[in-house]
Amino acid sequence: VRIYLDHNATTPLDPRVGQAVADALGAGNPSSVHQEGREARDRVERARRQVAAFTGAGQGEIVFTSGGTEANHLALVGLARLGRRRVLVASIEHPSVLEPARALGASLLAVDGEGRIDLAGLERALADPVPALVAVAAVNHELGTIQDLVEVARLAAAAGALLHVDAVQAAGRLPLEAIAADTLSISAHKIHGPKGAGALRLRRGLDLGPLWPGGHQERERRPGTENVAGIVGLGAAAELASPDPGLVELGGALERGLIALGARVHGAGASRVPGVVNAGFAGAPGELVVQALDLAGVACSTGAACTSGTVTASPVLLALGLPRERALEAVRFSAGRGTTLQEVQVVLELLPDIIARIRAHA
Ligand SMILES: Cc1ncc(COP(=O)(O)O)c(C=O)c1O
Repeated sequence: VRIYLDHNATTPLDPRVGQAVADALGAGNPSSVHQEGREARDRVERARRQVAAFTGAGQGEIVFTSGGTEANHLALVGLARLGRRRVLVASIEHPSVLEPARALGASLLAVDGEGRIDLAGLERALADPVPALVAVAAVNHELGTIQDLVEVARLAAAAGALLHVDAVQAAGRLPLEAIAADTLSISAHKIHGPKGAGALRLRRGLDLGPLWPGGHQERERRPGTENVAGIVGLGAAAELASPDPGLVELGGALERGLIALGARVHGAGASRVPGVVNAGFAGAPGELVVQALDLAGVACSTGAACTSGTVTASPVLLALGLPRERALEAVRFSAGRGTTLQEVQVVLELLPDIIARIRAHA
């Protein structure tokens, strides 16, 4: 049996969601006017209501996308096109925000040693008369740290800036309806849904254009025949998503256990979502720890999935001011629905030997 502690990379598919996806695989084309088309349209619109309720869209719109990456891209490129804006993003953003932002000539906002945005720096950056577009993740993918979005939103609104929030890691963990933003992105596979489905919550009246031409779907915002099964899966996952209260105790036990074994915890001084611990053991490269745990039946990660398997240090940890050597020691444990206290104990019992062996060979 495996122990899965990599929920930030992806979450196990909920069987009820899997069933809903399977049932929708043979759906018709939602753009067709005949009965088969209308049935597919009904499925898509039901999912839209489920996602609207989950994200607190209110009068706003939901645009379905191929996932969090596309939703982030649509928000940044779409909003930047609404008028020339300076783009401001936190230096610890996920690549799906950071890279389109860089292509738009973004300025990076500094973070402190715990991964919190430097709010005074944001305020100074917003004082520039050219209107801005600010993009910030509610919860960081590598650290689990929560940004002060109330303050970010207040500063952005006061300066007439637009705000995009990447809520991919916040979904299912924090109430999304409490997040005031012009656009907000989510992804189905982080909430026990299928991969390749996501959505952008869009404030009403924001006339955001498509990333590419080629069709009238999603009210001209996202051309291409809808991924009906994926959308249905996202809707079902959204309806079932809720924070797991057991993760508070479990995450606390994991963190205390790791510290007792001598680990440093990255971002420990910031408020974090329960169950996510990014830790490093001095003298033990994270890559080797992850490999040894995998052989012992435990799945975890050295950082963002897209940087795993390479030996480049995590840009998130470097942005926190960690030296390269320390950043390379990071291991991200992310528990989620279904993780048990017993599993955490097993991991904590496996680690001392693993760390000692790696240190001995280093
Ligand atoms: C914060 C954050 N944003 C965006 C994404 C990308 O989402 P997707 O995998 O659906 O493209 C991820 C995935 O790891 C993420 O953690």
